[in-house]
Amino acid sequence: MRPISHFKKDYGYRIYIIFLLIMMALPASTLSGSDPKIIRFSHVVSENTPKGWGAMELARRVNKALKGKVRMEVYPNGTLFNDNQAIEAVAMGSLEMAAPSTAKFKGFVPGLQLFDIPFLFSDLHAVHKTMDGEIGRELKSIFRKRALGIQLLDFWDNAFKQFTCNTNPLTTPNDFKGMKFRIMDSEILEAQIEALGGVGYQSAFSDVFDLLSEGKMDGQENTASNIYTQHYHTVQHYMTLSNHGYLGYLVIVNQAFWEGLPWPVQKKISAILKEVTLGVREKAIAFNQHALTALKTYAETHDAFEIVSLTSDEKQALQRAVAPVEKEFKDLIPKRWLETIQHDHGL
Ligand code: LMR
Repeated sequence: MRPISHFKKDYGYRIYIIFLLIMMALPASTLSGSDPKIIRFSHVVSENTPKGWGAMELARRVNKALKGKVRMEVYPNGTLFNDNQAIEAVAMGSLEMAAPSTAKFKGFVPGLQLFDIPFLFSDLHAVHKTMDGEIGRELKSIFRKRALGIQLLDFWDNAFKQFTCNTNPLTTPNDFKGMKFRIMDSEILEAQIEALGGVGYQSAFSDVFDLLSEGKMDGQENTASNIYTQHYHTVQHYMTLSNHGYLGYLVIVNQAFWEGLPWPVQKKISAILKEVTLGVREKAIAFNQHALTALKTYAETHDAFEIVSLTSDEKQALQRAVAPVEKEFKDLIPKRWLETIQHDHGL
């Protein structure tokens, strides 16, 4: 017979091993005694758009990498909040994440309307240089310093915007006279339409289709991917390939929530987000090209919808008409930023 002391030692060791095995089989959340942190990501566009893809991809990868610690849930199509509500909710901590367009931050960081200045960026490369460089870093620190309750994590692309209209093709500034255009919530966009002779009305994205179909607005401006997925082409007669301004997003998170996440979790999400941002840049081009092709096909098969290209003279005339807008807002946008962008473009 084995001495009692050995038996006790052996028995204790076995219990210890069983305990370890049970602990290893349990999700991390159970170990720490807490459920996974829920990150609700709210946005207003359809899933098959650059932002829609970005949100889903971010959630897919975060949920895989941080299983048990974090669970990201995506709410597309404005099912949870419209953009203005989402920004407020992130600031207040009643929503964790969102990615509203830069224009929507007018009341928080007015300088962000930089991205709305018509014809400021010559191409996406110029936009990325701004976001990835000194101006992007400065914007992130403005959010931190102003203690808005919002942390700016990254910038996501959509594309350059096109005009659509119901009454006549828009090729010269004269064609905009007296027309009502739905715009995003930006004073610069309002001034842009005014400079062309029209009137801009700020309204929520979720209302645009009805405003156009009920004839309450004559036109609007948006990217091909938004025009196509929101079916504006079915309620508008003309689309002008104007590429007159950029539309992109700020990926934001509630500051206190973010700072409350364990450092390794923050680090992992940031690393995944960085990769997803690069993916969004590629997908944004693909989604917008696909949407434009689909819109062209629609135009070929439907008399009620026409796509109009601009000659370089026509484009220059539009550029000249909106040129005063930049100067009008010189107190809103730091001169330094404009100089950096113009210097980068070699202007
Ligand atoms: C809009 O309001 O037109 C855009 O901000 C929608 C979006 O998120 O792309």
